[in-house]
Amino acid sequence: MAKKAKKAPNKKTAATPSERRLEQRRGDDRRRESSFFPEERRSGRERRRNERRQAGSFLSDVSELRRRARMHIDQGAVTSGYKADREKVIAVLNQALATEIVCVLRYKRHYFMATGIHANAVAQEFLEHANDEQGHADQIAERITQIDGEPDFNPVGLATRSHSEYQEGGSLVEMIREDLVAERIAIESYAEIVRFLGDRDIVSRRMMEGILAVEEEHANDLKDLLATLDPTKPA
Ligand SMILES: [Fe+2]
Ligand SMILES: [Fe+2]
Repeated sequence: MAKKAKKAPNKKTAATPSERRLEQRRGDDRRRESSFFPEERRSGRERRRNERRQAGSFLSDVSELRRRARMHIDQGAVTSGYKADREKVIAVLNQALATEIVCVLRYKRHYFMATGIHANAVAQEFLEHANDEQGHADQIAERITQIDGEPDFNPVGLATRSHSEYQEGGSLVEMIREDLVAERIAIESYAEIVRFLGDRDIVSRRMMEGILAVEEEHANDLKDLLATLDPTKPA
């Protein structure tokens, strides 16, 4: 039987950049294999073995991911990789939504009721916070729909679902104090929600982490305002 002619390096097969890179790597491998140094020969073989192993496990994961993504496509963003208790996450996010709505209402009340010599600057701070809380409420409601839930905007029971309270406060200082208390409650409960979500619902967790960071800023702003306005504040 005639010996099969050895395939000559074909310019056509090395026409694209990726093919040229492949050619280059084959050349490197041949050079390593014929190397005088055994370490270099070994490193080439190990690299190829690792590449094969990584490619094999990754490819099987990709096909599994694709198969799972096609199942229950009506569930939108909720895939079988969603590890959290969805009903519980929706309930917890609805509590956070109620907390944000109550915060909007309280800050709005304080914005319109702020009086006194410092009223203007403080009212602007209240308004800014009210707008931030409204943004948080929208983010949370949006996320609830992404995981196939329904955001609860029912005014009945809103104050009960909310973690923080609706306290009107009389003077400007009282208002700031009440807002600071509410922010501190939100900080504690959101931190707990973040820990609860863990890596089971990463998107919800990251959203709550972002909101938590803003609530901490709010608390800091209020603490500074209180320090300026309240001479009876504890040191
Ligand atoms: Fe908020
Ligand atoms: Fe806040």
